[in-house]
Amino acid sequence: MAILIVLLILLFIHIHGGGHHKEGRGITATSRCDFSQGNWVADESYPLYNTSQCPFILKQFDCIRNGRPDKNYVKYRWQPKNCNLPRFNGEDLLRRVRGKSILFVGDSLSLNQWQSLTCMLHTAVPRANYTSLRTGSLSTFTFPMYDVKVKLSRNAFLVDIASESIGRVLKLDSIEDGKNWKGNDILIFDSWHWWLHIGRKQPWDFIREGNHTYKDMDRLVAYEKGLKTWARWVEDNVNPNKTRVFFQGVSPDHLSGEKWGEAKARFCEGQMVPMSGTKYSHPAETVLQKVLGKMSKHVNLLNITALSQMRKDGHPSVYGFGGRRSMDCSHWCLPGVPDTWNLLLYAVLIQN
Ligand SMILES: *[C@@H]1O[C@H](CO)[C@@H](O)[C@H](O)[C@H]1NC(C)=O
Ligand SMILES: *[C@@H]1O[C@H](CO)[C@@H](O)[C@H](O)[C@H]1NC(C)=O
Ligand SMILES: *[C@@H]1O[C@H](CO)[C@@H](O)[C@H](O)[C@H]1NC(C)=O
Ligand SMILES: *[C@@H]1O[C@H](CO)[C@@H](O)[C@H](O)[C@H]1NC(C)=O
Ligand SMILES: *[C@@H]1O[C@H](CO)[C@@H](O)[C@H](O)[C@H]1NC(C)=O
Repeated sequence: MAILIVLLILLFIHIHGGGHHKEGRGITATSRCDFSQGNWVADESYPLYNTSQCPFILKQFDCIRNGRPDKNYVKYRWQPKNCNLPRFNGEDLLRRVRGKSILFVGDSLSLNQWQSLTCMLHTAVPRANYTSLRTGSLSTFTFPMYDVKVKLSRNAFLVDIASESIGRVLKLDSIEDGKNWKGNDILIFDSWHWWLHIGRKQPWDFIREGNHTYKDMDRLVAYEKGLKTWARWVEDNVNPNKTRVFFQGVSPDHLSGEKWGEAKARFCEGQMVPMSGTKYSHPAETVLQKVLGKMSKHVNLLNITALSQMRKDGHPSVYGFGGRRSMDCSHWCLPGVPDTWNLLLYAVLIQN
């Protein structure tokens, strides 16, 4: 009997002993590890930085300063199911990318991730000088000591919008801005949210493909056509020996409580805890995966959709740009969810 109990205890230790690794210890990330599946776990060592040490943070992401009263949302760490994400080491990253130029291209979700990365890097080396400069749609954050640039080019569709006599034309097969993406060592793209805009927020009047001009079309179809043009640009212009290409997966919003079983919720306001294990697939993500899957050049998908979907508590809600007068359930508070997107980026960058 005693032997049986000892065996049972040993079995118990065997089963449960492996589930308690701290991030970064022991298991290292491999390409075989799927970071996209897991859970958000409370971690007292979080957040990774304090925005009071990140003086250039934009007001729209600085939820605590904007008066957000609950603070547990900054204390969650993403725990992948079968492995660990390496702990972020900003100094290590700066050394690895010494002399290089990182360019984010995309909409305000790109801005969100770029801002997160610049805060993570600056707070890692607070004594290293930096410059931050915005000219038109390009923001450039520089660490002269490491000769590293972290840039952001605002471009919501990746393909072009041209002003013509008939009005503003979204040209699905034209990608003039691509010439400005050449010469960077790491490219991180994103595009989706603006494809949905209608009415006053829609910045085009017609869509053109080839010789055909349309008043409108199915937005997922248009998105796929635009992405294919972007994919062709990558195939024609990226030398994979020099440049690594990433695509930020679709960032989900939380505008409708019905989607998480809380029909009476007023958008994402007052949400204070993440969800666990949602089975979720996003139609735009499916399109994105399809396009990436057909490419001959390798693009790293930052597969953030499902893990972000669980964070109904991560948005600014009324603690964003407009305060009480507006509701932001699309962007993310910083520190917060985009820090984890950058942990995924870091994990891939240090793999080889
Ligand atoms: C992204 O992650 C989701 C959730 O784990 C998964 O269903 C999907 O297949 C992943 N996509 C890719 C391209 O790996
Ligand atoms: C951030 O730092 C400020 C000033 O040092 C401090 O008062 C505040 O509690 C910190 N916030 C968090 C979330 O740790
Ligand atoms: C940072 O910049 C200041 C002013 O330009 C300069 O005096 C200082 O030497 C720089 N520090 C480092 C570590 O480069
Ligand atoms: C567009 O029209 C021009 C002139 O009529 C023609 O030469 C060209 O082949 C057409 N292109 C496509 C993609 O249909
Ligand atoms: C990339 O490097 C490999 C191995 O050095 C070489 O065979 C290949 O031609 C290079 N590709 C390009 C596009 O330069």
